[in-house]
Amino acid sequence: SSSEMITLTRTGAAENVALITLNRPTALNALCRQLMQELSETLLKVEHDSTYNVIVLTGSEKAFAAGADIKEMAKLEFADVFQKDDFFANWDTLSHITKPVIAAVNGFALGGGTELALMCDIVYAGENAVFGQPEVSIGTIPGLGGTQRWPRFTNKSIAMEICLTGDRLSAQDAKEVGLVSKVFPTQQLIAEAVILADRIAKNSPLIVKTVKKSVNSAYETSLNQGLEVEKHLFQSTFATNDRREGMAAFSEKRAAKWSGN
Ligand code: HXC
Repeated sequence: SSSEMITLTRTGAAENVALITLNRPTALNALCRQLMQELSETLLKVEHDSTYNVIVLTGSEKAFAAGADIKEMAKLEFADVFQKDDFFANWDTLSHITKPVIAAVNGFALGGGTELALMCDIVYAGENAVFGQPEVSIGTIPGLGGTQRWPRFTNKSIAMEICLTGDRLSAQDAKEVGLVSKVFPTQQLIAEAVILADRIAKNSPLIVKTVKKSVNSAYETSLNQGLEVEKHLFQSTFATNDRREGMAAFSEKRAAKWSGN
């Protein structure tokens, strides 16, 4: 493909895992327009390709992403970002992907880098990972969801401390506050993320998509609305071949064969 700052590799036991790697080593994967444009295109390509079931998003051992490109942003005025061409317009593609996305974070994940991780469904970190929202220290604020997702995924006191100070969190800190689910030695991180992807990918893609949709509704609704969404989605699985096949396979003591419908 024409991507220069993003690589897409097919991996996993069943060759259905998309490993997407941020690859702009000269700037520690700082998120410039070109990188974000290529990331958005690559994500949409994988989203619409039914031979991919799960996505693993990673960077390098030194940096997942050191944030939005400060040198590129330094020149911009309000009218540039708001009016002229809506800079950042496609920066949230990741949050619209319906396939599971696992972040495998080694090294620096600062500012927009942390916010990319917050947009993923599961975050695994290497033991050298560093998270944080340093925007306040350069005269701006998190703009890719940091001030909204931190309070939803942790709590007010933690979210405020992170966003008001810009302090860095180690991999272990990030696990303690609930951003990261597991920490691994740096060298093993991607392999572990792919093993997790494989465990998800052996389920029906149709049902996996339904699970993701239902869990995400917990962050958008009241408990009662969310329970209604869940009940309806649960009932909808009864209209699928994969639900019939899954329950039949259990009774017949065999592995299910998913048709994806
Ligand atoms: C542009 C960056 C960059 C960034 C690193 N580089 N981060 N360029 N934007 N965010 C560049 C450096 O300028 C340098 O280029 C090269 O990458 C290597 O970085 P060093 O600083 O030399 O490396 P090191 O000393 O190891 O320090 C690593 C670091 C530091 C701690 C991650 O680079 C750093 O503090 N970066 C900025 C982190 C940050 O504030 N991020 C938040 C951005 S605001 P040269 O050419 O000099 O070799 C944001 C808003 C999101 O993310 C909202 C979007 C909508």
